[in-house]
Amino acid sequence: MSLPSALSIRPLPYRPEFEQPEPEERATEDGLVSTLRTISQTTWKEEGRALRSVHAKSHALLQGELSVATDLPPELAQGLFARPGHYPVIMRLSTIPGDILEDDVSLPRGLALKVIGVAGERLADSESEAVQDFVLVNGPVFSAKSGKDFLSGLKLVAATTDRVQFLKKALSYALRGIQSLAEAAGADSAALKQLGGHPATHPLGESYFSAAPILFGEYMAKVQLLPVSPELMSLTNQAIRVFGRPDGLREACNAFFADHGGRWEVRVQLCTDLESMPIEDSSVEWPEEQSPYWTVATVTAPRQVAWEEEKSRAIDEKQSFSPWHGLAAHRPLGSIMRLRRAAYRSSARFRSEHGGCPMHQPKTLADVNLPT
Ligand code: HEM
Repeated sequence: MSLPSALSIRPLPYRPEFEQPEPEERATEDGLVSTLRTISQTTWKEEGRALRSVHAKSHALLQGELSVATDLPPELAQGLFARPGHYPVIMRLSTIPGDILEDDVSLPRGLALKVIGVAGERLADSESEAVQDFVLVNGPVFSAKSGKDFLSGLKLVAATTDRVQFLKKALSYALRGIQSLAEAAGADSAALKQLGGHPATHPLGESYFSAAPILFGEYMAKVQLLPVSPELMSLTNQAIRVFGRPDGLREACNAFFADHGGRWEVRVQLCTDLESMPIEDSSVEWPEEQSPYWTVATVTAPRQVAWEEEKSRAIDEKQSFSPWHGLAAHRPLGSIMRLRRAAYRSSARFRSEHGGCPMHQPKTLADVNLPT
């Protein structure tokens, strides 16, 4: 792992006035929660399954370990990364739609990482937990400038059809920032396929980003998870055959982890300038030439069955990931992040109420009940 002994940049210390809630942010939050609720209720009635409103389909459910780097410079030795240590993790790779689509509809990917057994002062409503979640997608920015813009996009798409099953897709479209395309296309599955658009590449070769910032102890940062083992790196941009293979991505992840383990680096990009690295607007990519990503930890996952029904019951159904499960030192920042708090809580509560199993954040890896 390439480790800095001293940083070439000067990160900006966090100050509360850097956070500027949008006017009527509370109303936006209510709007999002009620739209999500409608989506969940609708799909529950239609499908009889309580799925995530987005990122419903998983492709790999991995267990592994996160090792915090030793001898980090003080600016990087913050929060979870303050001291060297080893933690069990689970990882869930997914694609964005709230429907279980066939994989030849190629769409952006997500990766949720749950670090287990983390001690320290916690975020409100996460006090009884011992996890630190990082919820990432394979792009460096979020589609909307503000929560308000995101909600109006979502409402616009949802209003373009009276077909209730389209609602979940509407959320996916809005998250991808392609409302106008969705509006033009209507709701049929052929149109959805055309909208796929994401190159059919291997999800294990991708880099994943927080897109929106978090507190990083005294500073502010965006987070990236980057594949670094040669076998994973060889998958970057590798085309994957998904045509006619509805679960092609799961099959590809299983094929990889049957023969190899994987290694990733957790990297952080510290905010050095609010003008070019805004906190409130997650649609702006922070320039790496001004502030590069620095490695703070490594994640390793051994050879394993990457996806199987039993793992799916343990992780897809009984776990929820949220950037608001974590340490006070990593409080999510900015409008999109603040809105995610109520949205994820409401979605997970719905899944818990309707899925017949309460969701508890694990204190140890054994609490996840993975198949042995
Ligand atoms: C206001 C903006 C957003 C809203 C309303 C939203 C909403 C949601 C909801 C409701 C879920 C399902 C949660 C559950 O039932 O457990 C979810 C999952 C997810 N979201 Fe978001 N999201 C937003 C922004 C983002 C951003 C900025 C990212 C990443 C950069 C992201 C990545 C993900 C991923 C990877 C998952 C799947 C988590 C898992 O595997 O359980 N979302 N989102």
